Amino acid sequence: MTDETAAAGAAYPGTRDPREMPTSFGFRTVREGEKQGLVNDVFHKVATRYDIMNDLMSGGMHRLWKDAMVSVLAPPRQPGRGWRVLDVAGGTGDIATRIVERSDRQVEAVVLDINGSMLAVGQDRADKAGLAGSITFTQGNAEVLPFPDRTFDAYTIAFGIRNVPDIPKALREAHRVLRRGGRFLCLEFSEVEMPVLDKVYDAFSFHAIPAIGKAVTGDGDPYKYLVESIRKFPNQDRFAEMIREAGFEKVTFRNYTGGIAALHSGWKL
Ligand SMILES: C[S@@+](CC[C@H](N)C(=O)[O-])C[C@H]1O[C@@H](n2cnc3c(N)ncnc32)[C@H](O)[C@@H]1O
Repeated sequence: MTDETAAAGAAYPGTRDPREMPTSFGFRTVREGEKQGLVNDVFHKVATRYDIMNDLMSGGMHRLWKDAMVSVLAPPRQPGRGWRVLDVAGGTGDIATRIVERSDRQVEAVVLDINGSMLAVGQDRADKAGLAGSITFTQGNAEVLPFPDRTFDAYTIAFGIRNVPDIPKALREAHRVLRRGGRFLCLEFSEVEMPVLDKVYDAFSFHAIPAIGKAVTGDGDPYKYLVESIRKFPNQDRFAEMIREAGFEKVTFRNYTGGIAALHSGWKL
């Protein structure tokens, strides 16, 4: 159960069906079963402008954080290793592309995302970059991964987990599909831990981002959700605990840009 559902549990007394449990959709409380549809609407709306909006919203910082994540992963460059990574909520394939290129095209990446519009943009990008032989795009849900146990050497998820209605379930699935010795890496917006920066970041997030979204895409609401969902996500320590609860060991995290983003790491041992 997420922090939000636990905290809000009293709102629907006596309910047992997890899909009826309250959860957050940005600052709104919705039923867990409703959240995925609302999230999917957001990403259908932003898919074709997703990459440019990422640059505008983060001032290009998301590229540095993603590069740093791939450096930590250090995908092998030796040929013939058969090393496979699953990038969940992989959207337009940003992380998978970086991983495959960093390995000199020696690793195989599977991008899984629930949203066909995001995957279509990703597939198109991979085709144009000549990476279609190294990256496979699969539609599916992080909570119910369509892969057998112990299939992958690494599981990555960037700016995706906070959108998933049942985060503990997605973390248990991550653990299930990893081989022994496999690595879990999650990049996500987190809690800013620097005075002053937190105020500047708040002002930029709540005012500028929805306004930029409206100017670029004609609709600021999806960006309001994206900002609010960041504030509802558990902080670094709490999320590390959730990763441990899913069975991962040697769980650590590092902050990027004062905690605007954080990279969590865990191992299946
Ligand atoms: C902010 S985007 C991140 C995309 C990409 N990882 C990146 O860093 O650029 C979040 C993605 O999570 C996906 N998503 C949301 N809920 C999901 C779920 N339950 N299972 C799989 N993907 C999901 C959305 O469709 C969207 O593509």
